[in-house]
Amino acid sequence: MLEKIIETTKFLRAKGIIDPDAGIILGTGLGELTAKIDKRIEIDYKDIPNFPLSTVEGHAGQLIYGEFGRKKIVAMKGRFHYYEGYGAQHVALPVRVLKYLGIKCLFLSNAAGGVNPSFQIGDIMVITDHINLLPNPLIGLNDERIGVRFPDMGEAYDKDLVNKALLIAEENNIRIHKGVYLSTSGPTFETPAEYRYFRIIGADAVGMSTTPEVIIARHMNLPCFAVSVITDLGVEGKIEYTTHESVQNEAAKTEARMTTIMTELISSL
Ligand code: HPA
Repeated sequence: MLEKIIETTKFLRAKGIIDPDAGIILGTGLGELTAKIDKRIEIDYKDIPNFPLSTVEGHAGQLIYGEFGRKKIVAMKGRFHYYEGYGAQHVALPVRVLKYLGIKCLFLSNAAGGVNPSFQIGDIMVITDHINLLPNPLIGLNDERIGVRFPDMGEAYDKDLVNKALLIAEENNIRIHKGVYLSTSGPTFETPAEYRYFRIIGADAVGMSTTPEVIIARHMNLPCFAVSVITDLGVEGKIEYTTHESVQNEAAKTEARMTTIMTELISSL
């Protein structure tokens, strides 16, 4: 694994991706943030050695590097999900490469179903903790050069970044929540009984991503910040027919507010 990480990192450095301050991984319908990256270098995943290809509609499959606010960032437009059939190593490699390129923080977004009854469609939730119901991506041999065998997960999401994000939201009049994100494999959306169960075990929102990348990042001690955009509700009496298109449409409506929070947060690093 380490050899592949180093090979890919060298390839990207040679393409001009030098000393990024932060990495960003964007969720369904939330890729437009990358339009704000200036002096950009774009590289398709298919041209990057060892990178898997993204197969889902709404996930373009491009690495974009450039200036964002006052910082240099590298964004993954398109991510790798378990429901696509990818294994742990596919999820892990890109995140590890971002760290080896030099990022100091990882920022993530996702589209999620709200199971907290106070949530509304279009709300933004800053993730303060998670429940990982996907296979743990660190299962298998551990390379101590990358991280320890048994990583602590007591502060998976950086508290300072959470607090800063809440302030930014307040200053910009953006309705925001803090909450626990639960990941499932998908690709099915939940049954009403599953939504109810996830609420009972402590979730505020449910989705199909993010926790594998955060686990891989925390294994390397990389601070993480993540937000969910609530695109549908898994709350009794409010459950509606959900499709990938409805998720994308609702995510797009909230994107500008999410981008404000991410932009100001990254600028403040
Ligand atoms: N469940 C799982 N994943 C999702 C949902 C949901 O309700 N909405 C967007 N992604």
